[in-house]
Amino acid sequence: MMNGQRKNGSSLGVLILAAGQGTRMESSLPKVLHKVGGKPMIFHTLRIANALKPAGIGIVVGHGVDKVKEAVAELIADGGISRPVQFILQREMLGSGNAVLEAVSFLKKFKTAVVLCGDTPLLTYESIYGLALSHENQKGQATLLTAKLSNPKGYGRVVRSPMGEVLRIVEDSVASPKELAITEVNSGAYAFEVEALLSGIKELSPKGPKREQFLTDIMELVRAKGGKINAYVSPNPEEILGVNSRVQLANAERVINRRMLERLMNAGVTICDPASTWVDADVEIGQDTIVEPFTILRGKTTIGKLCRVGPFSYFENVQIGNECVVSLSHLISCRILDKSVIGPYSNIRPDSVIGPRAKVGNFSEIKASRIGFGSKVPHLSYIGDTDVMEDVNIGAGTITCNYDGKVKHKTVIGAKAFIGSNVNLVAPVKVGRGAKIGAGSTITEDVPDATLAIARARQVNKT
Ligand code: UD1
Ligand code: CA
Repeated sequence: MMNGQRKNGSSLGVLILAAGQGTRMESSLPKVLHKVGGKPMIFHTLRIANALKPAGIGIVVGHGVDKVKEAVAELIADGGISRPVQFILQREMLGSGNAVLEAVSFLKKFKTAVVLCGDTPLLTYESIYGLALSHENQKGQATLLTAKLSNPKGYGRVVRSPMGEVLRIVEDSVASPKELAITEVNSGAYAFEVEALLSGIKELSPKGPKREQFLTDIMELVRAKGGKINAYVSPNPEEILGVNSRVQLANAERVINRRMLERLMNAGVTICDPASTWVDADVEIGQDTIVEPFTILRGKTTIGKLCRVGPFSYFENVQIGNECVVSLSHLISCRILDKSVIGPYSNIRPDSVIGPRAKVGNFSEIKASRIGFGSKVPHLSYIGDTDVMEDVNIGAGTITCNYDGKVKHKTVIGAKAFIGSNVNLVAPVKVGRGAKIGAGSTITEDVPDATLAIARARQVNKT
């Protein structure tokens, strides 16, 4: 079924509700833009919507409309979303039913519509596909994705007849004590025959002090017209978690993180302590790499095979080759090539390329620099805007003085050079191939190949 354009010309559309303010988040950021697994929450819903291969995806936007549109455009530009996406403006945030009402002209184009919420980032494609398939097979007017929760608090409850037929959904806020005891809840994901949805949606009456129209009230209206409501019970209740608060956001993050880690573990990566290891959705790690506790891997970070990373390390958009070791270090937007050793306590900043077989060690900071094959910056150095060629040894405490207060200047250190301890290299400056620099020197002029430069005051012993 799940192919947007079907044989008879009718089609599937997906509507994502994402206009709500998310009051309970207590945030200036629209709720669906809070990140889970390193991506705005709405991405997770959008990805599933796209995987259903619908003829169109509509996103209802309202609160923080410009920010949401901009973030969605970025997600689309990032690749992976191939179906046409259009935005529908909800003028006043008068409830999920009102959001659907605003989308009538979008929905009209389709025979069947899957409606999803932008705040349920844990849903899986398998469940939504199961929902859509069950909807098609059972031939009802609406099918709900439901789940049985031991703590159903906060969710709409699914009220069934003694025969098990779905009668209606009752919201937590208005449920009777008997209804509150029902453990089957509405996930907020539905499949509808558009005709039934549209005829019901226009009759939703506003409720409560905020005069909201609840999408969930549509079930009774559809039934009143002789329609049938079915339910598809999720085999995995955990995934229906809706994120309405920061507490639920943290719960969702933990679940999604666990999924990513299991994906990596199943691909042959050792995760020593899943509870203290955090990875984003795009992270890739090669076989037989060991990730030690308290390691955080963000953004598009990739790590090769047979590496050991962590403990206590942070990586963001970093590419690491094979057989590298990184411990207790902070790395951002850099590349570490094969068999290099980083840390403990190194800070590698953007646009740096280290290795292969290089070493950056204790309390060394590298910024926008190239540290060549086999070169070493083992202790207490700052190397910025520098090209270090191969087999260079940089002594403890070496500083490239790259900033004159206005602009940054470059330093070049030739192959096999030996820089003594506590040297200042005042850029722009070049140290030649095989050159040596005496400890404690402040170098302000280029050093030719294979020479020894000493630039410090001679020792005087006085009595
Ligand atoms: C909703 C369901 C509830 C279900 C739960 C699952 C309703 C009335 N209730 O409750 O039965 O158990 O989700 O997580 O739908 N939205 C708009 N415009 C609005 C209001 C909301 O687009 O004016 C969007 C929100 O952005 C959100 C979705 O609709 O993505 C659900 O709204 P929310 O306020 O989070 O509803 P819940 O109280 O969680
Ligand atoms: Ca919600």
